[in-house]
Amino acid sequence: MSETTSSDPASTSPEADILAALGPRLVVLVGMMGAGKSTIGRRLAARLKLPFVDADSEIEVAAGMTIPEIFEIHGEPHFRDGEARVIARLLESGPAVLATGGGSFMREETRRRIGAKAVSIWLKADADIIMRRVRRRADRPLLQTSDPAATVSRLMTEREPVYQHADITIASRDVPHEKIVEECLIALHGRLCGEGTNDAAGILGAAR
Ligand code: S3P
Repeated sequence: MSETTSSDPASTSPEADILAALGPRLVVLVGMMGAGKSTIGRRLAARLKLPFVDADSEIEVAAGMTIPEIFEIHGEPHFRDGEARVIARLLESGPAVLATGGGSFMREETRRRIGAKAVSIWLKADADIIMRRVRRRADRPLLQTSDPAATVSRLMTEREPVYQHADITIASRDVPHEKIVEECLIALHGRLCGEGTNDAAGILGAAR
């Protein structure tokens, strides 16, 4: 899909160009638990001066309970249905930056909705980084297994072929968050604004 937007002479920055080209759409972050979707999403939203929305938090508000409680009381299928409904609703309220839960993009209907209403970014992290990050918190029901590393590895094998359908892939790694945010901005500019990617890289780089 080609999305060429003529550069607005009045715009003053790559961020402004991205915003103009995005229109009512959202920027949706997908990827494994621990990939940094919320951390990067919050900073990306600040750079674009857009609201930041976290799907997991919205699910907890809608359900009136935490995600571990939803899994325990109602089970994963119920959680997945609620997750799909909440994300469908959030996709109607763009523009915004939306961080999604790691399993949500696996549902075909959710991928289709994201494709229609958003530009998606897969934050791709390797297993070591994910394990290091998820070990800090015990609030991921899917990882309450006897061998969380094996579970992460199995989930990555199942999910990565699907995550790669996102519009943009950015490697999430142990570098300052602002560097990942900058790479997201450059990729968004390249995809949404057509030519001028290198200009955007230069301008964004110079702005640091
Ligand atoms: C899940 C990821 C979690 C949360 C739930 C299930 C998953 O979100 O939605 O625990 O299936 O990978 P994060 O990706 O934000 O940790």
